[in-house]
Amino acid sequence: MRLPSHRQLKRADFRGKKVLVRFDLNVPIEGGKILDDSRILAALPTLKKIIERGAKQVNIICHLGRPIGLDKNFSTIYIADELSKLFRSKNKAKKIETDEKSPALKHYYQITDKINLFENLRFDSREEKNSTEFAKELAGLGDVFVQDAFANIHRAHTSMVKLQECLPTFAGLLLEKEINVLFRLLSIAEKPFVVIIGGVKIEDKIPIIESLSQKADAVLVGGVTGNEWVAQNLPTKENIFLPNDGVNKFGAIVPVTKETVKNGVFDIGPQTILLFKGILSSAKTVFWNGNLGMTENKRFIHGTNEIARFVAKIKAEKVASGGNTADVIDDLGLREAFNFISTGGGATSDLICGKKLPALEMLLK
Ligand code: 3PG
Repeated sequence: MRLPSHRQLKRADFRGKKVLVRFDLNVPIEGGKILDDSRILAALPTLKKIIERGAKQVNIICHLGRPIGLDKNFSTIYIADELSKLFRSKNKAKKIETDEKSPALKHYYQITDKINLFENLRFDSREEKNSTEFAKELAGLGDVFVQDAFANIHRAHTSMVKLQECLPTFAGLLLEKEINVLFRLLSIAEKPFVVIIGGVKIEDKIPIIESLSQKADAVLVGGVTGNEWVAQNLPTKENIFLPNDGVNKFGAIVPVTKETVKNGVFDIGPQTILLFKGILSSAKTVFWNGNLGMTENKRFIHGTNEIARFVAKIKAEKVASGGNTADVIDDLGLREAFNFISTGGGATSDLICGKKLPALEMLLK
């Protein structure tokens, strides 16, 4: 499956128009500081292309975190300041009031004379309700709409779905790239196809593992997901490989059992690393989502680092997804060794599992 040509950005005529663009700029922010700007950087090619192609004005909309109503901690001001720096504006983003009532629209930040960023869409409770009324208000911000929020494509929210009914809609460059890479991976992955799944949210990972074990030759499972799979004695298959040893809080190597997992296993152990490397050595396609240990603590990053370095070296098509996995890859300076690092977390997983995503279904029509 591919994006139909009439949805491609290159088909849009932006000359003299007001362009409304939806990005996923949901970045981690602590005390006003952006901890990872990769989603902001990933939005730039689309933004620059729209300007290059003659748009009169670009209005950006996005969400940030999961605020309950209006909450200043989740304001897009921090993203606006970052965008201002990236566009080398002399000043910080300027706040401009509007006549709109919606808390998401009653002011915006002026980044350059052509680019504006509106407030967090989730400040308006109608965003999550796929509201026709809110979609019409948003549509007032553009003559044409560009949907580039790939990492939010699994959310059936107003700015993702309903808004597409209100304006001529095109896909952004990031969204197009993401779906092309991921659909290709699903349809024509060269074999052996090896999947690595880690991370914490076992309830989210179970369906991914079940679905991918039908497509991949091997699924290697680590992190809390792998440990819990063993501890809870969940049903397994011959192509699902679980950790057999791990590292406990004292740094000692322990077997992975119900008892040791109860006391805490925080990284994969040397035997598991060897097992995973052995399987990966012949892989021709690798998809990796989720870290294999508690990598926020450097004492437990060894297993994930070892696997990242190994994957980087093998001759295969390599795609990774998820913020934590991307961080490890970046910290090791290995981004170039991967063919693609998806900006999506849940979105990438849902797409890979073949779930129906209404915002994407509309773009594919
Ligand atoms: C993400 O970061 O995965 C998306 O922006 C969606 O955010 P959400 O999980 O808060 O809906």
